[in-house]
Amino acid sequence: MVEPRDYTLIAPLYDKIFSRPLGEGHQLIGKLLRAHPRKKILEIGVGSGLTLEHITNHDFTGIDVNEDMLYRAQIKVLGRHNVKLHLMDAQKLKFPDNQFDIVMAPSVLSAVINPEQVFKEMVRVTRPGGTVVVIANFADDTKVLSKILDPLTRSFLGFRMDLELDFYRCSPEIKLVERKKINQFANYHLSWFQKFKKQNN
Ligand SMILES: C[S@@+](CC[C@H](N)C(=O)[O-])C[C@H]1O[C@@H](n2cnc3c(N)ncnc32)[C@H](O)[C@@H]1O
Repeated sequence: MVEPRDYTLIAPLYDKIFSRPLGEGHQLIGKLLRAHPRKKILEIGVGSGLTLEHITNHDFTGIDVNEDMLYRAQIKVLGRHNVKLHLMDAQKLKFPDNQFDIVMAPSVLSAVINPEQVFKEMVRVTRPGGTVVVIANFADDTKVLSKILDPLTRSFLGFRMDLELDFYRCSPEIKLVERKKINQFANYHLSWFQKFKKQNN
């Protein structure tokens, strides 16, 4: 099975190719950030930093596993002290539990090897009552189309199509608040979760 793409080759062209198709999701993230000024935000798989134009007075941390993508994000935020960028694997975040008000992963869970592990890590570092936002491609209801397309999207576009819409049930500490279809292509959704304030026993 081909794993989702290493972004090194695509990094120089990433903004040109993806800023438009991913733009609607980034605008929705911008709206969320405007409604939550001064919050402590973590973006998983920040990539080339296409969301960074929406960061104003937030305390923002972005991580990515790919140096070439992260370099492009670094250039966009030179001199901005409220933005920290780190080379880090989302499957093993080097942050303590319950740190961030909002943890978001736009177009990342479909591009990682182990989406459930990444989601669990996102939830772990979110503070109780905090928000987790995921934008991703999902399998269609019947799974017929996604089974056919998955090997192709992995090989040529760098994302998987086998992620189930209820993937978040791998984490008992979170509830789904809202889900919005962003566009028809590849079952692309924004899902918004809240971490329970108290542990469920
Ligand atoms: C499709 S890009 C999305 C970038 C950005 N979030 C956006 O919306 O434009 C996926 C990003 O996830 C990163 N990524 C893949 N696996 C990762 C991992 N295990 N840890 C951190 N980042 C990862 C890739 O390097 C790439 O930059």
